[in-house]
Amino acid sequence: MKFKVFNSYEELSAYSAELVAGVVREKEDAVLGLATGSSPLGLYEELIKLYDDGNLDFSKVKSINLDEYVGLDGTHNQSYRYFMDLNLFNHINIDKNNTHVPDGVAEDLQKGAEKYDELIESMGGVDVQILGIGPNGHIGFNEPAEKLNLNTHVADLTQETIKANARFFASESDVPTQAVTMGMGPIMKARKVILIASGENKAWAVKSLIDDVITTNIPATLLKLHTDVTVLLDRSAASQLDEK
Ligand code: GLP
Repeated sequence: MKFKVFNSYEELSAYSAELVAGVVREKEDAVLGLATGSSPLGLYEELIKLYDDGNLDFSKVKSINLDEYVGLDGTHNQSYRYFMDLNLFNHINIDKNNTHVPDGVAEDLQKGAEKYDELIESMGGVDVQILGIGPNGHIGFNEPAEKLNLNTHVADLTQETIKANARFFASESDVPTQAVTMGMGPIMKARKVILIASGENKAWAVKSLIDDVITTNIPATLLKLHTDVTVLLDRSAASQLDEK
């Protein structure tokens, strides 16, 4: 696992965009595993800039998102489909038919989850997986637990996650209590992983990434078993690491 600490979130974002751009330049039909939340926002802005400047072509790129809230359809302004359209897809030349976000309003969520795994498989897996990290160490919505899931599944959100995400909703009680999330399987199988963390509230979770323990109670620690993970941090997120 490689760690890189940046003086500012802007520098971190520009660097992360160059990593993603490198993958796309090498493989024009790359599969991008995408995340929502505030962490990758700067990355998406930088990718849009690269596209605007004629330095990156998304016409053949495919994307697969990590997760979606149960009960929110794509028109809801807090749904992750809406987020992706608003913050990235509407601004680049990606074919929307090639962008995928789990269906949070499927009549049969389990069936939808199984289909999502088939879809990931049919796309040949993920070339580069973007991840944020929850303050409790979750990735996607794979929450701390005794057991983790390999496959896409419906996850119950922890109280801590509901609290952390309440800032995007009118009140805490409006935050969905469940989500459909990609399991650990496709994340661990991604050819490259880029994890972005910024802010003091991520410092504990980030520190657990350098400790030598791997535990399902901090799902991100499983990434220590992956051979190509780059963790990009700003100073605050790195504040509990010994060497800065
Ligand atoms: C959310 C998402 C995660 C995201 C995390 C951190 O709950 N499901 O994929 O990485 O929380 O979000 P943020 O980047 O806004 O701190």
